[in-house]
Amino acid sequence: MDSLPQFPWDSLAPYKERASSHVEGLVDLSVGTPVDPTPDVVRAALAAAADAHGYPQTWGTPALREAVAAWFARRRGVPDVNPDGVLPTVGSKELVAWLPTLLGAGPGDVVALPDIAYPTYDVGARLAGASPRLMHGLTAAGPMPAVTSMTATKLLWVNSPSNPTGQVLGIEHLAKVVRWARRHGVIVASDECYAEFDWRSDDTAVGSELSAPGAVPSILDPRVCDGNHEGLLAVYSLSKQSNMAGYRAAFVAGDPALVGRLLEIRKHAGMMVPWPVQQAMVAALADDSHVARQRVRYGARRGLLRSALENVGYRIEHSEAGLYLWITRDGRDADGGGDAAPATQVGPDWSLVSEMADLGILVAPGSFYGAAGRRHVRMALTATDERINAAVRRLAHYGHGG
Ligand SMILES: Cc1ncc(COP(=O)(O)O)c(C=O)c1O
Repeated sequence: MDSLPQFPWDSLAPYKERASSHVEGLVDLSVGTPVDPTPDVVRAALAAAADAHGYPQTWGTPALREAVAAWFARRRGVPDVNPDGVLPTVGSKELVAWLPTLLGAGPGDVVALPDIAYPTYDVGARLAGASPRLMHGLTAAGPMPAVTSMTATKLLWVNSPSNPTGQVLGIEHLAKVVRWARRHGVIVASDECYAEFDWRSDDTAVGSELSAPGAVPSILDPRVCDGNHEGLLAVYSLSKQSNMAGYRAAFVAGDPALVGRLLEIRKHAGMMVPWPVQQAMVAALADDSHVARQRVRYGARRGLLRSALENVGYRIEHSEAGLYLWITRDGRDADGGGDAAPATQVGPDWSLVSEMADLGILVAPGSFYGAAGRRHVRMALTATDERINAAVRRLAHYGHGG
């Protein structure tokens, strides 16, 4: 196995310490962990399922798999998900980390992933002993020229909306990815866990209802794959849309043959979602109103932070969907982090981390998501209104030379 990358978050500790010394306390916008309550409808379903004396089904209950298919039809514009091709997972991080292994990837195989990405795609390739290959073409408008020579590619990850950039891949782009992958016998896994948080329709008016079904296209969307799910897997999580990160509630859906392969190993390995959580997932998937409420909350926080940042000269790129702002500052090439900073903590992103830490605001350096992210920082929208307002006040004060 290629050695695993060092867990990078420890390197933020000195900045966290500095930010925490702010008189009004730390505003931690460095991680995307939900802070709002789990909806009552979800908690009630969990509580009602507390008597769980028997083993749960690794495949998920038929009711859960039907609920996922119905959700795809209602919310994602995908009318033809086969419940046989649905499988619950213990959160989606687990699946992302183990998918290459479960698909039989190993030494000599390539797992392609975006060059600025959630780090677990890379980890998953390494756990399998396969080689991670960063692909800029996965997010560029073109047809991924560099990938065409990669005969060893086993699996290709796309992530839309992207963590950290918030970029959404359109139908044309995804269709090209699917056509390419089919030509080369490559499996496409599409991580879509921020799909419900599309901000493109309310960049001027915050607080609108749910986005239109399919506004963020799924890899399983008939406009993307012509209604043929062969070789395709969509990965989704209820952590963000339903504040269920602590439940570990997610699923993968798509090609029933591929899902069958995953299921077989997962049964042997005991990788199953507890039955009360499966019941809570059914309740969450049937209820759109809590997702709409959550979307309004995040939309308001996003609007406030965005204006506060832009008013003092930061530039926000992409960020048209998802739970993060992808921030840079023009003309700021300083190799910040300070004289005493280790070499790994030098670059424009660390300079931005440092200046925000002085305001008591902690953000994540873009280089945590790949070297191509080194001019940006990622700011999460997952903080309480009170903490978001504190950040906004500090930024305004900073703008006035305070
Ligand atoms: C792109 C992406 N995929 C997957 C996950 C994992 O989510 P979970 O394991 O909570 O389902 C995250 C979490 O932040 C993420 O940003």
